[in-house]
Amino acid sequence: MLKDKNIALYVTGGIAVYKVVDLMRGFIKQGANVRVAMTESATQFVSPLTFQILSTHEVHIDTFDERNPEIVAHVNISDWADVSVVAPATANSIAKIAHGIGDNFVTSALLATRTPIFIVPAMNTDMYENPATQANIETLKSRNVQFVEPDIGFLAEGYEGKGRYPENERIIEELNNFILSKTVDLPLRNRKILVSAGGTIERIDPVRYITNDSSGKMGHAVAEAAYKSGADVTLVTASKLPTPSGINTIRVDSANDMYDEINQHFIDMDVLIMAAAVSDYRVANAADSKMKKDDSSEPVTIELTENPDILKTMGSKKKDQFLIGFAAETDNLEEYAKKKLKEKNLNMIVANEVGQSDRGFNADENQVIIFTDDGERIEVPLTTKSEVANILVNKLIEELNK
Ligand SMILES: Cc1cc2nc3c(=O)[nH]c(=O)nc-3n(C[C@H](O)[C@H](O)[C@H](O)COP(=O)(O)O)c2cc1C
Repeated sequence: MLKDKNIALYVTGGIAVYKVVDLMRGFIKQGANVRVAMTESATQFVSPLTFQILSTHEVHIDTFDERNPEIVAHVNISDWADVSVVAPATANSIAKIAHGIGDNFVTSALLATRTPIFIVPAMNTDMYENPATQANIETLKSRNVQFVEPDIGFLAEGYEGKGRYPENERIIEELNNFILSKTVDLPLRNRKILVSAGGTIERIDPVRYITNDSSGKMGHAVAEAAYKSGADVTLVTASKLPTPSGINTIRVDSANDMYDEINQHFIDMDVLIMAAAVSDYRVANAADSKMKKDDSSEPVTIELTENPDILKTMGSKKKDQFLIGFAAETDNLEEYAKKKLKEKNLNMIVANEVGQSDRGFNADENQVIIFTDDGERIEVPLTTKSEVANILVNKLIEELNK
């Protein structure tokens, strides 16, 4: 989401200024254009030169240092920006922003801006918990200013408390979510999409299980691509992979658990994408306690019983929902995928060959063929799973708009 976004980064005078140098580099790495303004206090902590060199733009500090007669610098930066980020935000600057004070470059630019404002407060616990600071934060929240919750941890003052500057990774993720929430014209806006991912786990006993090689990478990539296109995404996953905080993630183990979740949510959905590798069978008589080694030489038998066919059941229940299945096969890929598309009442199926180490299960790349119910066949050559997910989501958008 940060790609090609213009970010006005306002740096105020807290001890965490040095961490914001890396935050700015994180923005730039994600493809954003960044311009920086600092308060006088902020320049006490890190030299403006550091921000200037790394952003490749001059850093604004003094409101009256007007070098270009054709513009007014603090109005120009606020007009140029798509989003305004204040990091770290001092208690003092938060108070000024809340009360419409414009007594330096940063606060004047923030008064002049029409962009969404995203604030990363960082300060001593007592300053953070001070009723004045809390009231100022509430005032700004009521005006739709977004705040990143500070961390609880070891503060510069040498003790634990709330007010710590959070990890840059979290800030970038929350900024991405914030920008996404402000972007109204996304192709999947107002669409509810349910995605399943991962290889289910079928317990033999509390410490042993049967599973498959699916990592969940493909399903998670699909969920993320749909989310970035504006969809309201629910991900039911048997994988331990992380997901962006904007995706409603439900973690499950077994095929039965996955069935229950999908079955419960399906009715409210516009689209179901079943990318999970659901076990066809489960252990018929899973033990409640750890099975002991049997000293007899008789072979141990594990009896299997069939799991519910989630996709087929949803296919039979579907009303207006759009259903996408995955067919992971080692042989007769096309034939099997087309059969599954028809038999399970799907709108689209993604066929991928598994059993090769560079693609499919557990790999970072995939090569697939997408079939639609009206006979279209799209070959996607070997590429990253996120690219496959983008192609699939774009095809879904096209089909939904038909
Ligand atoms: C060593 C030192 C560290 C400080 N750290 C913080 C801080 O983390 N957060 C904060 O709100 N204020 C902090 N302050 C106080 C601010 O620098 C002070 O309130 C200043 O007026 C803020 O100015 P500004 O909001 O214009 O940047 C610190 C001050 C000093 C001397």
